[in-house]
Amino acid sequence: MAGHNTEERDALTGRTTTGHEWDGIKELNTPLPRWWLNIFYATIIWSIGYFIAYPAWPTISGYTQGVLGYSSRAEVQVELDALKTKRSAQAADLAKVELAAIKADPKLLSLALAQGRAAFGDNCAPCHGLGGAGSKGYPNLNDDEWLWGGSLEEIHTTLKHGIRSSNDSDTRVSAMPAFGRDGLLKKEEIRQVANHVRVLAGQASEAGYDKAVGGKLFADNCAACHGDAGKGNKELGAPNLTDAITLYGNTVEDLVETIANSRAGMMPAWAHRLDPVTVKALTIYVHNLGGGK
Ligand code: HEC
Ligand code: HEC
Repeated sequence: MAGHNTEERDALTGRTTTGHEWDGIKELNTPLPRWWLNIFYATIIWSIGYFIAYPAWPTISGYTQGVLGYSSRAEVQVELDALKTKRSAQAADLAKVELAAIKADPKLLSLALAQGRAAFGDNCAPCHGLGGAGSKGYPNLNDDEWLWGGSLEEIHTTLKHGIRSSNDSDTRVSAMPAFGRDGLLKKEEIRQVANHVRVLAGQASEAGYDKAVGGKLFADNCAACHGDAGKGNKELGAPNLTDAITLYGNTVEDLVETIANSRAGMMPAWAHRLDPVTVKALTIYVHNLGGGK
């Protein structure tokens, strides 16, 4: 036996062994594959390069900046600035173009509608509902019934100055007397005239309603504003009572409450809260909801 070859080979695999042996089990000498080691070393070198080039290590007062001066925050800022420039260019277009011209220009229209939809969700939906369908006390903006007018200009005015808004001297106002609270009509009279309003709208009246009594009460107390036939008067903000579209409901109880206490709903003046371009976009959006004239 030659002394210099102490290397032992495993009979099954042909591999050399490390010389370690436990209970007859010998450890084979299996080095890591070359390709794996090369990738391993490459990643170490890469990480050193990365460490030098980019922000990497926390320090007491901040972090190592890296020689490239990269900062994800700066990157976001650049993108935000670009977006702002783009937005303000679009806003400038909406600001200088007339409402009707915005409506006529497909590009500006879609811009205004997108902005209007977002602003509607943020500012108007809590009262008017997400799709503008309204609810009791909050008008439906999808229909073609307008208390204050459905043209672009009329809607714009409503939005800018609000309705019975306490902080706008140009706000839209209208008032109906509180016939019960102010002692103008007695309880039975209010019930009679409430039934009369239902009849004007083509709805059933309660037992006890007397057409002559209700009609006279209406002519004496209501016709001055709502018209003899109850068709309403836009100038006075007095709604049409014959169309069965009501803001506050048209059961006898609803009507008694409206006539006895008056309602006087309030809508904020938006010119004080939103910028002019947003108010314009909202005008277009509301006009476009389907009920615009
Ligand atoms: C705090 C609740 C409230 C909010 C918020 C609100 N509204 Fe109103 N809005 C009302 C009420 C109440 C009326 C009806 C007032 C009345 O005529 O008696 C109204 C009326 C209107 C009208 C008039 C409808 C007509 O028949 O002429 C328009 C248009 C309108 N709102 C649009 C908007 C838009 C757009 C926004 C969001 C910028 C908005 N509203 C936010 C409560 C609100
Ligand atoms: C001075 C004018 C005036 C007189 C008089 C008047 N109204 Fe009105 N009425 C209005 C105005 C303005 C509104 C809308 C105001 C509001 O929403 O608070 C209104 C609203 C109503 C509504 C609510 C309609 C809805 O959409 O829910 C009913 C119902 C109504 N009036 C019935 C009557 C009856 C009945 C009388 C007579 C007993 C009467 N009004 C007298 C001006 C008047």
